[in-house]
Amino acid sequence: MDVLVIGGGVIGLVTAWRAAQRGLRTALADPEPGGGAAQVAAGMLAAVTELHYGEETLLGLNLASANRYPRFAAELEEASGEDTGYRSCGTLAVALDTDDRAHLRELHALQRRFGLESEWLTGRECRRLEPLLAPGVRGGLRVDGDHQIDPRRLARALVVACERAGVVFHRRWAERLSVVRDRAAGAVLAGGLSVAAGQVVLAAGSLSGRLEGLPAQAVPPVRPVKGQVLRLNVPPSYAPFLSRTVRAVVRGSHVYLVPRENGELVVGATSEELGWDTTVTAGGVYRLLRDAHELMPGITELPLTETRAGLRPGSPDNAPLLGPAELPGLLLATGHYRNGVLLTPVTGDVMAHALVTGELPDEARPFTPRRFSPAQQKVSA
Ligand code: GLY
Repeated sequence: MDVLVIGGGVIGLVTAWRAAQRGLRTALADPEPGGGAAQVAAGMLAAVTELHYGEETLLGLNLASANRYPRFAAELEEASGEDTGYRSCGTLAVALDTDDRAHLRELHALQRRFGLESEWLTGRECRRLEPLLAPGVRGGLRVDGDHQIDPRRLARALVVACERAGVVFHRRWAERLSVVRDRAAGAVLAGGLSVAAGQVVLAAGSLSGRLEGLPAQAVPPVRPVKGQVLRLNVPPSYAPFLSRTVRAVVRGSHVYLVPRENGELVVGATSEELGWDTTVTAGGVYRLLRDAHELMPGITELPLTETRAGLRPGSPDNAPLLGPAELPGLLLATGHYRNGVLLTPVTGDVMAHALVTGELPDEARPFTPRRFSPAQQKVSA
């Protein structure tokens, strides 16, 4: 093999697909390709409404990926014959009380500083767009460029596209990285199968730091950040319930409602630093339902169809680690934190470029894993 990708979430899959399209003989190891954090994610493509102070560099990559989405989704649907659920529906971020409104005003100022498209609306204007919003909504931001995709469909389409592009799937864990003469040379999989490859891409989400055999300087600094997410169903008789994604900060906690065309309504998400815990808790579900109910009182009428928790791969600066690591032959595609689904198209392009040329394209240079290497950090200090 030219390339072995470890991890079959959306990031590993898109890397394998793009690598195979470039003519590289590519294998992927994962017991359940298409699983991972995307099975829980809501699929908001929220480059503008999920902007945070201090993440300006990441904003550039997020926007680059959001801009690629329409063509990416069309190409993937063509290659796989699968619908990805891409929906250009826009987003409304709303505020319920004076503090939430002040928070939203700050976000609006930040968005305008970066020249992003976002329009301030009164509470009445918000309700004109989404009539089932609570009467207490005090104002909001209309962002017509933040869309959504169904991450489960995205993952399924990527599996099929990989199969059709000739990616070889090993449906097992990678247990140990093989290092030969100080170079990554493949991996030993569960059951003892050895897969040799010229280059190895570690794309195992929050598990990326746990692969045995990684030399200390190449271990990615990723950690799991738990998110609990609910799924409800809007029966056809209730439609139209919501026409776009609605999000809010309710008394300091983030909540979002993402309506799919098939009636699914995703409500997320908690953000909890609890290590590897994926328990769905009464408190998590209560808080999400309470906050969602404050925004859309009608939500309590809907059937609750699923509760689930996933692990975001958090990194020290909330941005992904992309490209060559501190071990020749090893590349990383991990640490996407809150933006894995959004960053899928650009990650595929960046990783294919890095695999073929050995270099990161300019847009991805700030995301080199080497920014966390001890030598680099000494220079920065
Ligand atoms: N980007 C949404 C979340 O991380 O919950």
